[in-house]
Amino acid sequence: MGTKTIKGRNRDRNARQATSFLDLLNTHHEIFEVFLEHQEALLREDFPLALRRLKSYERKIKRHIREEEEFLMPIYSRAGKVPGGDPQLFFGEHQRIAEFIDRLKKIVSGRKGQGRNATRQAIEILYQEAMFRWLIEHHDEREKHILYPTLDRLTTAAERKRILRKVISSQLSVAS
Ligand SMILES: [Fe+2]
Ligand SMILES: [Fe+2]
Repeated sequence: MGTKTIKGRNRDRNARQATSFLDLLNTHHEIFEVFLEHQEALLREDFPLALRRLKSYERKIKRHIREEEEFLMPIYSRAGKVPGGDPQLFFGEHQRIAEFIDRLKKIVSGRKGQGRNATRQAIEILYQEAMFRWLIEHHDEREKHILYPTLDRLTTAAERKRILRKVISSQLSVAS
């Protein structure tokens, strides 16, 4: 009792108030914050901390992806053909996101240099992560413009409320 963080309480409230699948863009934003924290650690060349934060980011985004595939995509399939929104595009991007994070984890965990060496390694990782960021932004845009508005169109208010509540508040149970 009373152990929830401010972030957790806000998320509870967001989950209760969510009325559109576009509210999941807040979830994207919150998850990406963890990635930025990871990059802050990288900039300080604290590779062990950067790795822990990257793993935390991975747990959160994978949970989100799993829920989209489990709860959202079955509803989305009712839409039939959506231009630029073939379900395989979403599944494919989810797959690429997971693979990219796996690659980044390997690179970050292999770095233990010191001094100038560590700086160069951090620069190289940030370069790789710029490409990852492009992938994430591209995916977010597709969901913002196609997946989420289509789901809003296909569902009743009651259905939306039920699913969003489950999906948004579930991020609370993902260990940081
Ligand atoms: Fe998403
Ligand atoms: Fe997604």
